[in-house]
Amino acid sequence: MCGIFGIVTSKEQPLGELLTAAARRLMYRGYDSVGAATLRDDGTIDLRKDVGRVDAVAEKYNFSEMVGRRGITQLRWATFGEPSQVNAQPHIDSDGDIVGAHNGNVVNNFKLRQQFIAEGLTVRSENDGESCVHAVEHYVNKGYDFVDAIRLAYGDLAGDYAFVIGHARDDRLYAIKKGSGLVVGLGEDADGQPFTCVSSDLPSILPLTRRIVRIQDDEIIILWPDHVELLSVKDGQRIEREPEIVTQSMDAVQKGGYPHFMLKEIHEQPQVARELLHLLNEASEVNTFIEQARKARNLYLLGCGTSYHACLLGAVYFAQIAGRAAIPVLAPQFIRQYAPAVNHEDLGVFVSQSGETKDVLSALQVAEKRGMTAIGIANVIGSTLTKAAACWLPLGCGYEISVPATKTFTNQVVTFLYLAYRLAGLDSPPLEGIPDLMEQTLEMTAPQMEALAGEINSWNDLYCLGYGATYPIALEGALKLKEITYAHCEGMLSTEFKHGPLSAVSDGYPVLFAAPPDDVPLIVSGINEVTCRGGRAIVIGEEDARLRGEASDVIALPKAGPAISPLLAVLPLQLLSYYMSVRRGYDPDFPRNLSKTLTVD
Ligand code: AGP
Repeated sequence: MCGIFGIVTSKEQPLGELLTAAARRLMYRGYDSVGAATLRDDGTIDLRKDVGRVDAVAEKYNFSEMVGRRGITQLRWATFGEPSQVNAQPHIDSDGDIVGAHNGNVVNNFKLRQQFIAEGLTVRSENDGESCVHAVEHYVNKGYDFVDAIRLAYGDLAGDYAFVIGHARDDRLYAIKKGSGLVVGLGEDADGQPFTCVSSDLPSILPLTRRIVRIQDDEIIILWPDHVELLSVKDGQRIEREPEIVTQSMDAVQKGGYPHFMLKEIHEQPQVARELLHLLNEASEVNTFIEQARKARNLYLLGCGTSYHACLLGAVYFAQIAGRAAIPVLAPQFIRQYAPAVNHEDLGVFVSQSGETKDVLSALQVAEKRGMTAIGIANVIGSTLTKAAACWLPLGCGYEISVPATKTFTNQVVTFLYLAYRLAGLDSPPLEGIPDLMEQTLEMTAPQMEALAGEINSWNDLYCLGYGATYPIALEGALKLKEITYAHCEGMLSTEFKHGPLSAVSDGYPVLFAAPPDDVPLIVSGINEVTCRGGRAIVIGEEDARLRGEASDVIALPKAGPAISPLLAVLPLQLLSYYMSVRRGYDPDFPRNLSKTLTVD
């Protein structure tokens, strides 16, 4: 979590607006606090920061008047130290002539802070970003030049992070990364003057330039206005790497007419599913997966949060469609529960939207140590997962800005469905109808879900139940509701409800059911158990007289059959959570306490 951005220009100029705009585009990585620093030609550093969202902090502290030749901004998602002004980034060193900011997690922060305090350095906060600055200062004080000081500091800073740093009395910025992502941009401003910039992620860079250099671990990047220099941390040797041109559209980082990114991303699902199906038809990695899966002793599907729910559904598909057992597991639990028993005969599919989730990357590391083959499924191309796995499949969703995952979940499910059919021996999986069915589902259910959100919004406690292939959908629907409405919503196997939770049901109590077309009688039993106690059974499923006859409300899905219907059922649940969140006055894109990219344990 957290996002950093730094820019180096060729002359002193107003940088405040540019830094604010870059910070806004990184908000999905953290929004507990924001800060900006400019490094001016007179050798001073202008640092302004506080708790709050970008626009509020920028306005309160007049970022727009900030001037400099170089600038840094940081968005924070709190780990070390509470969200506060002193813990906000960037940070300065003891005498205020070095400034830097980081994203990620320096795991030996506590020990380092003690060391720096003992050395007499001025440690102002508890934040690990400050430790990055002092780690460099520590070596500068010993007489090392700035680059060597950064190289040595890198060895002292344990964890997964990226940081950008600058010295008041030179004309460069420096950046480095371990584990986390880091990209550099090279461009020209409106007057044709060159600049370079660096960031944790592309959205802050692409509006400025499309010439990109991706930084690897153990590399230091030095940014001048007109060029960048890449050095090896180990030996200080120069590394040559040509910039690439990123051609992806920036449309995806704008809201495109929708009030929130989440709603835009919900409505993008048919299109990204269409593109994904094309991609999968072309991807040679699908054959690699099939070969590996056929010969593997055990097949594990690993992820966290929403990505784990996709793994759960993937396992159902592999069994039902291909007769292949797969073990879905929360990535951190894999380390203790399965890793001791895996070896080179096993295959793991590691699923992550961001490709940067530490819980997933840690499991991957352990799995690979045990000789297990790892295949990645990720949305962010160039992410750590795509580099660490033996091979990987893209989700092809473009940027997903909203913290709640929507389009990346459905494309994860489409990927698993596709792989299941291919594993079953079908060269052309019968999935081309999915995008149209998704469009119909959104059209058919959106007005109903908006109305329902109004009707059940007063409840702060609800259940979401499913069975078979809709069990993971129930879990995912419940996660969406929890994540952005802050209500307690439990996802559960429908048959388990009577074993205890049924006692929660009172007059009008809402229980959502996702009904698989093949198991309507079982779902009807569950519905009756709720309605006969005065509860409100809201059923999402294909049109069926038995459901109509028993449920309080039916959210009808287009006919799609047992494999595709569960995938469609998640769409009305996403819409319900969205409309409830908005009704409650929350911002569904940036729910409190959460971050889009979780690069910590
Ligand atoms: C989903 O809405 C959540 N924001 C969260 O559960 C997310 O899926 C989880 O943190 C995993 O992220 P990843 O897919 O990027 O690994």
